[in-house]
Amino acid sequence: MSRKIIGLGGALSDSSTSLWALEIAMASAYDAGAEIEVFDLARLDLPMLDLRVKEVPDSVKQLCAAVAECDGMIWSSPLYHGTISGAFKNALDWLQELSTDDRPYLTDRAIGLICTAGGVQGLQAINTMEFVVRALRGFAVPMVVPVSNTWQAFDAEGNLTDSKCKEQLEQLGREVHRVSGALATLA
Ligand SMILES: Cc1cc2nc3c(=O)[nH]c(=O)nc-3n(C[C@H](O)[C@H](O)[C@H](O)COP(=O)(O)O)c2cc1C
Repeated sequence: MSRKIIGLGGALSDSSTSLWALEIAMASAYDAGAEIEVFDLARLDLPMLDLRVKEVPDSVKQLCAAVAECDGMIWSSPLYHGTISGAFKNALDWLQELSTDDRPYLTDRAIGLICTAGGVQGLQAINTMEFVVRALRGFAVPMVVPVSNTWQAFDAEGNLTDSKCKEQLEQLGREVHRVSGALATLA
């Protein structure tokens, strides 16, 4: 059976390595048989979560409706100052809208984690993301992909020149699809 996998990530920038990495993993999930949808944070243009504002923005409704229906997600954040970007954390904060669902938050969803970093500390953001996965009741798949030295790992057209890293991202896409199928049997 086809599983629905949602991609979430990218930076508020015109050429985002975290979006490019996410797209590789998502294409692989698609090839494995998943139904996919990618939410690029630059396009989604989410406002900051503001609990004083009672109206839920359309962009948030769109994201949360897709996440509520999904079987798994792949997250991809840039490494900013040693951790996830503010824009990425803000998107995760908006998932609070899923708190009262039948399957609250990310219950029984498989989550794949990617970070792209200028240096080699991408795992720090991945560890931070894993805390959030657990807080939202999801399951992070054991495989994670920190993409290091992005200034040389991608060419100007956004192609990942490191073939080993590309294979890891593709493997992550397949793995999230596979584990999503297994977790769906728990429902
Ligand atoms: C505000 C800011 C903070 C950054 N902090 C770090 C950092 O702490 N460590 C690091 O290795 N790279 C850091 N970088 C570099 C980014 O991780 C790198 O350029 C990455 O490819 C950005 O992903 P993006 O293209 O999706 O924005 C930073 C970049 C910016 C803009």
